[in-house]
Amino acid sequence: MSSGDDREGTAQVPPPPPPASMKARFEQLLDAVVDNLALIAPDYTILMANETTARYFNAKKEDLVGQKCFTRFQQRTTPCEDCPVAATVRTGKPCVLEKRSDVTDTYLELHTTPVLDEAGRLVGVLEHAKDTTARRRAAAAAAEREHLLAQREEAIQSRDNFLSVASHELRTPITTLHLQLELLMRQVRAGDGADGLKGRLEAVRRQTRRLTRLVDQLLDVSRLAANRLQVELEELDLVEVVSEQLAGHSDTCLRAGCEVRFPAPGPVVGRWDRTRLEQIIANLLSNATKYGAGRPVEIAVEAAASLARLTVRDHGIGIAPEDQQRIFERFERAVPTRSHLGLGLGLWIVRKAAEVLGGEVRVSSRVGEGATFTVELPLGGPKPAQE
Ligand SMILES: Nc1ncnc2c1ncn2[C@@H]1O[C@H](COP(=O)(O)OP(=O)(O)OP(=O)(O)O)[C@@H](O)[C@H]1O
Ligand SMILES: [Mg+2]
Repeated sequence: MSSGDDREGTAQVPPPPPPASMKARFEQLLDAVVDNLALIAPDYTILMANETTARYFNAKKEDLVGQKCFTRFQQRTTPCEDCPVAATVRTGKPCVLEKRSDVTDTYLELHTTPVLDEAGRLVGVLEHAKDTTARRRAAAAAAEREHLLAQREEAIQSRDNFLSVASHELRTPITTLHLQLELLMRQVRAGDGADGLKGRLEAVRRQTRRLTRLVDQLLDVSRLAANRLQVELEELDLVEVVSEQLAGHSDTCLRAGCEVRFPAPGPVVGRWDRTRLEQIIANLLSNATKYGAGRPVEIAVEAAASLARLTVRDHGIGIAPEDQQRIFERFERAVPTRSHLGLGLGLWIVRKAAEVLGGEVRVSSRVGEGATFTVELPLGGPKPAQE
């Protein structure tokens, strides 16, 4: 009827638009979807793409059509090895895969579905892509937060352990001191001779020395943790410093029943910091006697090229391979506190002191056969940046 009206030229109302083709309707439908959609041919040619995809890749829909998906979506010259389109073409089944797009620097979760013709032949693959970048970032941030939280909890735990061990360690010499002083007072009151007093005074001196060492170590821990360890470089003979330390620790070695052998070579002179050298030697010596099972301890000093090498070897309990790295960390111990007192700080201090002098420390050991600690220090002192 309307065509009759048209023919007669009497119509007032414009004609209705021709019915949209199936393809146009399909495209409208695709454009209304907020995710990326594209129809890909089995040879990777983009047959159709929706508005979201075009915007996502900063292109026009018609510019995408006819191009290869790997070129346009992944900036590649060949198909991706893990291409979900290829998987669907190969298997005729849907496939899901998460991929990074180098073009947009984002992550996409790709869902591919086979598109079949009336005869059941595969004519294309519908690719549906969701941007998962935000989800991934949120997951990574949550994992990072969890990691930091775990680290903080670990730090609190190790600080608590440290405080309980430290107070235990400090209490031991204080208790002994107290006892010795009580006995001294009793002896003085009873008018005992100098001989009896001497032994007790010796014990008192030993305990105060131990207390001083512990307090010094605690002070060093805070300085070391803040990387504020001071170094005053001067010309020093390592052999001489070792000999002095041996003399100072002779009673400790004696009580541990360890004979210390140090066949002093000629002088080995370098630019070092006295306190740091003393810390290195004292801590290694203390460990060698503490864990040396009463067997001889051998110390050697030698100059090798531009380095000085100090080795402290014992024949005691030894250290298991899995513990040999971690014992250089703060508060790390490989023995129970019940059998051997200690804060787990000695080797950490040795490592930090060696590092501040531009050197390093390492260990080689077998369980039950003893341990050898080797410290290497440059003769010329640390490089300027390390000072
Ligand atoms: N010569 C050694 N032989 C066997 N084990 C050792 C030796 N030296 C160190 N260790 C192990 O390494 C751990 C860490 O040593 P470190 O000197 O840092 O701490 P510590 O001796 O336990 O306490 P302190 O802070 O009083 O030195 C020790 O607890 C021990 O398990
Ligand atoms: Mg120690």
